[in-house]
Amino acid sequence: MQLTITEDYAALSRAGADYVAALIAASPAAALVVATGNTPMGVYSALAARAAAGTLDTSRLRVFQLDAYAGLAPDDRRSLFRWTNESFLAPLGIRPDQVVLLPDDAPDPDAACRAYDAAVAAAGGFDLAILGLGPNGHLGFNEPPADPGLPTRVVRLSEESIASNAAYWGGRDAVPRAAMTCGMAQLLAARHTLLLVSGEHKRAILRRTLEGPITPDVPASFLQRAAGVTVLADRAAWPDTV
Ligand code: F6R
Repeated sequence: MQLTITEDYAALSRAGADYVAALIAASPAAALVVATGNTPMGVYSALAARAAAGTLDTSRLRVFQLDAYAGLAPDDRRSLFRWTNESFLAPLGIRPDQVVLLPDDAPDPDAACRAYDAAVAAAGGFDLAILGLGPNGHLGFNEPPADPGLPTRVVRLSEESIASNAAYWGGRDAVPRAAMTCGMAQLLAARHTLLLVSGEHKRAILRRTLEGPITPDVPASFLQRAAGVTVLADRAAWPDTV
């Protein structure tokens, strides 16, 4: 695992965009799985600027949605696909045929999860996972306890995730309780992982992730033994000099 500390969120976003752009330049048909949440938004904006400037070719990428609430109506404002689309896919000029969804309005979410894992396998696994760190150590919606072999599946959100997701939608009551998440097994097998962590509120969980025991109680701690993991944190999240 490689840990890089940046001075602040703006620097983290630039460094994250440099990392992703370099990977895409080396592997133009890479399979990416991309998080929503607040942390990666600066990276996505910086990548969008490069795509608009013509310095980032996204035309051959394959992009997988990381997670989704389950059981939403087609036009629900809380669609994480909508968020992925508005923050990443559309600004980077990625076409629908390049994308594998976790459909939040799927009539059979279990079947949708199985189809997703079949698509991941058909792509040969992920070249890059762009992830945020949950306040309870979740990756995607792999809530603790989460064993490393878990596949993509339907989950119930933990109380901590409901509380953190409340900030996105204007309160706890607005947070759906069920979700679909890309599995631990698929994420941990990614050839490269970029874990983005910003802010003082992530300090304790980042330390447990990087230095604590590897345990299902901190799903992200399994990244300690995954290959190709880069952690980009700002100084608020990792105040030590390293
Ligand atoms: C989002 C996701 C979550 C977030 C995590 C951190 O698709 O899967 O695991 O990455 O909750 O969220 P932020 O970045 O908002 O702190």
